[in-house]
Amino acid sequence: MAAYSAIAPHGGTLISRVIEGDDRAAAIERAASLEQIVLSDINLADLEMIAAGGLSPLIGYMERADYEASVHHMRLANGLPWTIPVTLAVTDEQAARIQVGQEVALVEQSGSNGSAETHLLAVMEVRDKFNYDRDVEAQNVFRTTDTAHPGVARLHTQGNVLLGGPIQLIDWPARTISEFSELRYKPAETRAIFAERGWRRIVAFQTRNPIHRAHEYIQKTALEIVDGLLLHPLVGQTKGDDVPADVRVESYQAILSSYYPASRVLLGVFPAAMRYAGPREAIFHAIARKNYGCTHFIVGRDHAGVGNYYGTYDAHLIFDEFTPEEIGIMPLFFEHAFFCRACGQIVSLKTCPHDKENHLHLSGTQVRQKLAAGELLPVEFTRPEVSRVLMRAYQSGDKQQA
Ligand code: ADX
Repeated sequence: MAAYSAIAPHGGTLISRVIEGDDRAAAIERAASLEQIVLSDINLADLEMIAAGGLSPLIGYMERADYEASVHHMRLANGLPWTIPVTLAVTDEQAARIQVGQEVALVEQSGSNGSAETHLLAVMEVRDKFNYDRDVEAQNVFRTTDTAHPGVARLHTQGNVLLGGPIQLIDWPARTISEFSELRYKPAETRAIFAERGWRRIVAFQTRNPIHRAHEYIQKTALEIVDGLLLHPLVGQTKGDDVPADVRVESYQAILSSYYPASRVLLGVFPAAMRYAGPREAIFHAIARKNYGCTHFIVGRDHAGVGNYYGTYDAHLIFDEFTPEEIGIMPLFFEHAFFCRACGQIVSLKTCPHDKENHLHLSGTQVRQKLAAGELLPVEFTRPEVSRVLMRAYQSGDKQQA
C-alpha cells in the first residue's frame, strides 16, 4: 500500500517568498534607492497570501500572460485553474517612472492619519508592465460591469497600469503582526497541525459572516465524513457594511469551546481580501484552502456572493468547468439550510417535507431591528452566545454593521 501523503499544494510546490539574513539585508539596502509603491488594503492581503504560500503557485503579482489567461480562461498561462486575477495596479504617472527589469519597493503607510511615513515590506522585480480593460475584467470575473458591485467599484478606484513580477518579503504587514496573530496560521503551519493531529481528510469552511445555526449545521454535517474541520474566517478587506472581522472571530470564539470538540476543530484566520466574485471566488477559495492542506471545501448557497449578481447555486455549477483532478480539493456542496419548526431542526429543501410557513428566515434588516431593540435573536437562528457578541458590537457603535 502506498504511504499516506498530504494533499499537494496547487501546482505541486508550497511557495514561500520570505527572505531572511543576508538576502533580507541586501534587499533592504537596494530598496533605499527604489521607486516606492504604497500598497492598498487588497494589495497587502495579497502580499501576505503570496508570501506565505496561500496562493501557490503564484510567486508575485500577475504578469500579463497569467492575467489574461485568468480573466478569459480561468487558468494560469500554464493551464492550471486560476479564476481570480491577483494584480498590482499603479497610476500612469508612477508607471512612467518604472521600467521593466527594474526592482520596486513595496511599502505600507505606517504613519497615523494618512501621514506620508511608510514601512518597507517587500521588493518586486518588475517583469511586466501592461494596460488592462476594467470592463472586460469586471464582466468576466464579476459577471457584471455595474459599479454598485463592490468588486467592480474597487476596480474603478485603482490605477490604469498593472505591474507583474516576483516578490520577496522583507517584513509582514503591520496588520499581520497585530491582528489575530495567534490564529494566523500559515499554510505550512496548518499542514503541520493536521499531520500532528493525524487528520488526513480535512474540510475547510470559508466565511465572512458571524456564525449562525445554518453555518454550524453544514460545518458539522461535513465534519461527519472527514477527520477535522478548519474554520477559516476571512479577515482581509471586506465591504463597509459587512460585520467587522474582530466581531466575526469573537462570534466563533464565543461558541467554540461549548459546542465544538476541540480535538476535531481548528480555528484559524484567512488573510485574503473579499472579492465578492461569487462562483469564481468559490474556486479561488477552494484552491487556497488546498494550499493550507485541506482535502475538502464547503460551498453552500450563494458562496462569496453579493446582491443579486449570482444564482444561488452558481458557485456549485462552476466546478463542472474543471476536472476534479485539476482542482484537487473536493467541494462539498450544500443547499440553502434553515430551521424548520415542524422538523425541529436545521434542514434544506432536500431534507424537509414541510410548507414554507414552518421555515424560519430572518433578513439582515430584521436581525438589525432585533439587536437595536436589545432583543436576542431566535436560538433557532443564532446561538445566544453569538447574539450577545453581535448585540454588544451593534450597541457599541458598529450599528450599521452588526
Ligand atoms: S461567504 O461570502 O464567505 O460565502 P458566508 O460567511 O455567509 O459568506 O458563507 C460561508 C459559507 O456558508 C459559504 O460556503 C456559503 O455558501 C455558506 N452558507 C451561508 N449561509 C448558508 C445557508 N443558510 N445555507 C447553506 N449554506 C450557507
